[in-house]
Amino acid sequence: MPQLSPRITQLNEGGSDGWEVFYRARAMVAAGTDVTELTIGEHDIRTAPAILDAMHEAAHGGHTGYAMVPGIPALRAALAQRLTERTGVPTTAENILVTPGGQAGLFSAHMAVLDPGDAALYVDPYYATYPGTIRAASGRAVPVQTRARDAFLPDPAAVSEAAAESGAKSLLINTPNNPTGTIYPQATLEALAEVCRDRDLWLISDEVYDTQLWEGAHLSPRTLPGMAERTMVIGSMSKSHAMTGSRIGWIVAPAPAIERLIDLATATTYGVPGYIQDAALFALTRGPDLEERIAAPFRRRRALALEVIARQDTVTAIPSQGAMYLMLDIRATGLSGRDFADRLLDAHHIAVMPGESFGRSAAGHVRVALTVDDARLDAALGTLCAFAESLTHE
Ligand SMILES: Cc1ncc(COP(=O)(O)O)c(C=O)c1O
Repeated sequence: MPQLSPRITQLNEGGSDGWEVFYRARAMVAAGTDVTELTIGEHDIRTAPAILDAMHEAAHGGHTGYAMVPGIPALRAALAQRLTERTGVPTTAENILVTPGGQAGLFSAHMAVLDPGDAALYVDPYYATYPGTIRAASGRAVPVQTRARDAFLPDPAAVSEAAAESGAKSLLINTPNNPTGTIYPQATLEALAEVCRDRDLWLISDEVYDTQLWEGAHLSPRTLPGMAERTMVIGSMSKSHAMTGSRIGWIVAPAPAIERLIDLATATTYGVPGYIQDAALFALTRGPDLEERIAAPFRRRRALALEVIARQDTVTAIPSQGAMYLMLDIRATGLSGRDFADRLLDAHHIAVMPGESFGRSAAGHVRVALTVDDARLDAALGTLCAFAESLTHE
């Protein structure tokens, strides 16, 4: 066949995408092994029947043709109202583009702000798709390293330095954070906003976990002075409404940027199916009660997990305030996160994600997704800790 473009062959820098343990666990499950899967950020419940009914009704009602590319007006208006109420930043439908999931929003936002070869900053550890997303937009992915002892929060001075060195056009942040479970404090966000203003960066703020808050509050950096005009917020129904498979999310941005993003959507996705948008609108009109009900199991399991971790001192948890994950420090075992995860899977059929899958900064850590029932999580974490302890005697 003729050559493929380096853009696509180098999407993962020709190396792994960091998900080998996940794929290995899935293969074991397919072969009949009972694996406790604490890997992917997917709820252990399915989309609520009432939301599916709304989808079904919309489809049978005829909303199966091409939908309007920017999103149906009622959904854009509802999202604008929700954002205005939750952030205090006046937001209209012209600030919203409905996208097929947050991932499409991340890609589109980078396409909108990068020319080929432009540097784009992101914070390490990171959601696994970030560097590939930047490269897919023909950008140069530049990680900013963080430290476990700072709970993996970005140091604004390091971000500023990286921006100056690379000539970056954008900074991608994620709070509440996957994979660490931290929520960026206001002071960090203010300092990062200052860096963006000083260095003339776009801030791409991934807020897909903004309904999963266990401690403290979520602050959208779009609310900070001078930031609405240089921030693109990525939102999604995947995590808030257990609608991962429906592929529905949005970008919030200045209206002139949304106009250009609509051009991009016209040239790529051509919008989101109308019946999915109707179902999303239905789900949003259920209000925060539904969101809280979906978040509740993770809130409970995080507390339970922290109790298990507190009973021993080989494994420690990065202080977490939100999102459906816990990042565990297993450096006392002397193993890398990858080796630990591989050995845990082989010895105990428990699958966790190696920290290294999320970047260099999280080496010697593993990420646990709080996505199995309480009893199973309790037992798996007890086993994980005992296994870690046993490794310290090797
Ligand atoms: C931090 C983060 N951003 C974005 C996404 C993408 O979500 P979706 O495309 O399902 O909206 C995920 C999914 O796991 C995520 O963890």
